[in-house]
Amino acid sequence: MSASGSPPTKPATRVVDAGNIEFGDGLEILLSTVFQAAEPGQTIDVTTASRATALELPGWARSTGHHAERDWKEHNGNGQRFVVRLRRGDVVPVLGPDLPPPSDPMPLRLGSQFHTTDLISAAPGGIPSSAQPNHGLVPLGAIPETGGPDYAWRLNTHDDLWAEELTDLTERASSSQWDATTDIPWNEAIGLPEEVERAVAQVMTFIASNEYVALYVPAKFLPQVNPAFVDVLMWLASHINDEARHVEVFTKRALVGGQRGYALAATQLSLHSLLQEDDFSSASLLLNVLGEGTFIDLLGFVARNAPDAATAACARLAHRDEQRHVHFGISHVRRSQKLDPDSTRQLIAAVEARAARLATLTGLSPVLLESLTVLASGSVSAAALRQGAGAVKELTKLMETNRIRRLRAAGFDKETSHYLSELHTPNLM
Ligand SMILES: [Fe+2]
Ligand SMILES: [Fe+2]
Repeated sequence: MSASGSPPTKPATRVVDAGNIEFGDGLEILLSTVFQAAEPGQTIDVTTASRATALELPGWARSTGHHAERDWKEHNGNGQRFVVRLRRGDVVPVLGPDLPPPSDPMPLRLGSQFHTTDLISAAPGGIPSSAQPNHGLVPLGAIPETGGPDYAWRLNTHDDLWAEELTDLTERASSSQWDATTDIPWNEAIGLPEEVERAVAQVMTFIASNEYVALYVPAKFLPQVNPAFVDVLMWLASHINDEARHVEVFTKRALVGGQRGYALAATQLSLHSLLQEDDFSSASLLLNVLGEGTFIDLLGFVARNAPDAATAACARLAHRDEQRHVHFGISHVRRSQKLDPDSTRQLIAAVEARAARLATLTGLSPVLLESLTVLASGSVSAAALRQGAGAVKELTKLMETNRIRRLRAAGFDKETSHYLSELHTPNLM
């Protein structure tokens, strides 16, 4: 009896016209859709023009957890129809709660644009502040079916990974993609004086080496991130995509003129120490703020002083991407320190530990210094070299000033910013 005292009403019998379709022809899909929408116990009359299909229907019902009640023939204007009455069983096709009722459509901008920021803020359920380490690969807003495998994610706290402008940066990354095959005037790189081309090849090889670590660091963290934090995953994926293109474009520029450069051992040592950092925020300080920050100045220098338009374009386009990566790092580190003042000590310790591992590096490699000077000189005449050497000296000063400025923006006090800047690897990244 229902609460009001009247017997519960039985849901009315539904009628499904299967027309001429048969099993193997789409009939299973039609029946599955109808039975999923029906209530357990509800009867459904399936009409078909095919005697064979009518004979198969009870077997289909049994195999899918429903019941066959009875069958009969009907005649209408189109001739003979077979009717089989089935009753929906208790089986559920998915081991999960019922799907919630539909909500309003998601917000669009300018009539047709679905912004990632709106996806993240308006999706039902949203992004949790923390997630279970065994969380499945469940898209935002989806209802997880029980019985999936157990995962063991390592990074399960959103605040440990997030930055204020995260989705905005991801959207900017999507809309500023470029093509290292067609967006660089590669022909402009051909025909430089041999000494200049050799210097450019060396600088490009150095930059390409460093781009590898910028690729590997976010790629190392991505598979540790709980899939509930799709905003973080999308950001890291865009970062990785950018860096893969940087490896591509600088490798292409190193080789296009026919010369080769050295992958310097000092660079390898520096990058190896960066890959050893296992804490996300510390890695963000070392890579995004200090390393990529310093590289922004290097890329700006190459874009301004390149002896050819191809090299300048490579540096300019990569510079644009690096601004996003540095922006993320500054914002993330600043927020980490605000949320947990103890993290400042940990961040400083990470820079100190890396500096200790790099104690044997005393300055920028002379091979690189020389190549940067020739690149900026555009020739090996005495006058040009004097001007190039001056530009490199200014670059070193600019890197230091800007590094301190970025550290201040990331939330470190003046004294600590100077200290951390001094500890930063002489390899620049
Ligand atoms: Fe890069
Ligand atoms: Fe980068």
